[in-house]
Amino acid sequence: MNPPPRPNQQIAPDVKLGRDVRVFGFVNLYGCEIGDESRIGTFVEIQKGAKIGRRCKISSHSFICEGVTIEDEVFIGHHVVFTNDLFPRATNPDGTLQTDADWKCVPTLVQRGASIGSGATILCGITIGAGATVGAGSVVTRDVPSGATVVGNPAKALVR
Ligand SMILES: CC(C)(COP(=O)(O)OP(=O)(O)OC[C@H]1O[C@@H](n2cnc3c(N)ncnc32)[C@H](O)[C@@H]1OP(=O)(O)O)[C@@H](O)C(=O)NCCC(=O)NCCS
Repeated sequence: MNPPPRPNQQIAPDVKLGRDVRVFGFVNLYGCEIGDESRIGTFVEIQKGAKIGRRCKISSHSFICEGVTIEDEVFIGHHVVFTNDLFPRATNPDGTLQTDADWKCVPTLVQRGASIGSGATILCGITIGAGATVGAGSVVTRDVPSGATVVGNPAKALVR
């Protein structure tokens, strides 16, 4: 049973919350799905169409945009930023503001048990493999193989 939303939480009625999901204050969740027993930290935003699996931990200040799928048991550190448009523009060539019809959402997948360090930025169209680790502050520009550890900007495999 989930507790009722607190006054300092913005959880839209279209959010699909699983069982025993714990959501902290000052979040902004809309049109997304969150699986059983997951934890959502303070100041997290999760957009429409994003999916979070079961037993995930999403740490404070992270941004999970439309197009992102996070499988079960994934750790997302603090201030992790996902993206869904490689060439974003505010306006069209004629100067009008872009709308949803003017750009294509590019999906990203984070597979089961992966862990993303604080402050990482994840470019779109990427798969982060099962059990992989992304170091703190990394900028991930390419797929990360399952079980690999990547660090840096652009993120490269950590060679020991
Ligand atoms: C990636 C990580 C798991 C590697 O840990 P580790 O295996 O103990 O690695 P080491 O500390 O032995 O570092 C190995 C090398 O990688 C470098 N490195 C480690 N983490 C790095 C990072 N995030 N970015 C860039 N380089 C990094 C180290 O400087 C070192 O380089 P050197 O050999 O040239 O000296 C860890 O550094 C990390 O970033 N963890 C995420 C922490 C986090 O964000 N937690 C969130 C919740 S608090």
